[in-house]
Amino acid sequence: MSDVKIAFIGCGGNANGHMNQLSQLDGARIVAVCDVQLERAQSAAEKHNAHPYTEHRAMLERDDLDAVYLSLPVFAHGQPELDVIARGLPFFVEKPVAINMDIAREIEEQVAKEELITCVGYQLRYLGSTQIARAMLQNTPLNMLVGKYWCGTGHGNPDTWLRQMNKSGGQLVEQATHTIDMMRYMGGEVDTVYAMQANRVLKSTDCPDVNSLSMQFASGAIGSLTATWAYDPGDWSNANILDVFYASQMLNWNPSRVAVREDGKWTEKTAPSPTIDEVFVEAVRSNNGAHIRSPYSDAVKSLAISLAANRSAQENRPVSIAEMG
Ligand SMILES: NC(=O)c1ccc[n+]([C@@H]2O[C@H](COP(=O)([O-])OP(=O)(O)OC[C@H]3O[C@@H](n4cnc5c(N)ncnc54)[C@H](O)[C@@H]3O)[C@@H](O)[C@H]2O)c1
Repeated sequence: MSDVKIAFIGCGGNANGHMNQLSQLDGARIVAVCDVQLERAQSAAEKHNAHPYTEHRAMLERDDLDAVYLSLPVFAHGQPELDVIARGLPFFVEKPVAINMDIAREIEEQVAKEELITCVGYQLRYLGSTQIARAMLQNTPLNMLVGKYWCGTGHGNPDTWLRQMNKSGGQLVEQATHTIDMMRYMGGEVDTVYAMQANRVLKSTDCPDVNSLSMQFASGAIGSLTATWAYDPGDWSNANILDVFYASQMLNWNPSRVAVREDGKWTEKTAPSPTIDEVFVEAVRSNNGAHIRSPYSDAVKSLAISLAANRSAQENRPVSIAEMG
């Protein structure tokens, strides 16, 4: 079968990672790349033998596209997705899916209407460690989930979109969404969050740099998450950690392995897994999204939790996910 021909909207750091993955995949070809910064589009185009654009609508006029990747700053979501949907193309979009629920719901509605295959960049769902943990937890009542995302990415230029609250939504929306999504993937839907936030270290940004959330799951389980991006930028060992207390047992998950206690001893388990790019390209090729673990409508639910936590901290009250719209 012929190559799946892919276009990119956004050619920043994350997009380049996906381009490199795709360039190693048989049957995938990057044919067009777009960035509002011409030099970024040109550099990606040169590397992948694609055509550069600075306006995504001009790129979408091509008649040879099979799928689109969108890897944009959080505030830039909305019209690009709607234009891709109007063109009837399946798309991969990076998390978080939008800066607010109105934009996310509008895109979600259009995706459903057009019945498009979508895939959101929650790549941790595909890992062997995740699949093992999920299989273990599937038919067991969970009691408590405790997540942690401590890293140092809040340090650095305070003027970039990442470190401005109205452009990124702060760490909970932009980054710890991965851990929130894992908590949902393992523990099911969240009903209510109650959050506290403060800015203790990174005084030149308007984003909170310490976050503490309590969560009520629909199942009756409870959860908590702490997140900071003001920690040591050189240590990633405390980013994306999850402890799950189920029955009278616990497991400890991180992206590289899941540790479980069996017969009084800790055992570490992992398994090979496909990349999210392989799964998406295969879904497009086969016109079958069954193996995509985070379609657009599911990812909107993870966004709602981060936004509810920000609202909760700002208004100093528990916020139900239902009230996020
Ligand atoms: N899944 C992951 O683990 C992971 C990791 C890193 C980043 N991300 C996500 O990827 C996205 C991009 O992050 P990044 O670090 O690459 O940011 P970045 O700032 O490096 O790249 C974003 C690019 O989008 C371009 N852009 C902005 N508006 C545009 C438009 N309308 N049309 C075309 N191009 C436009 C910018 O010029 C920039 O080059 C974010 O949502 C981020 O959260 C995900």
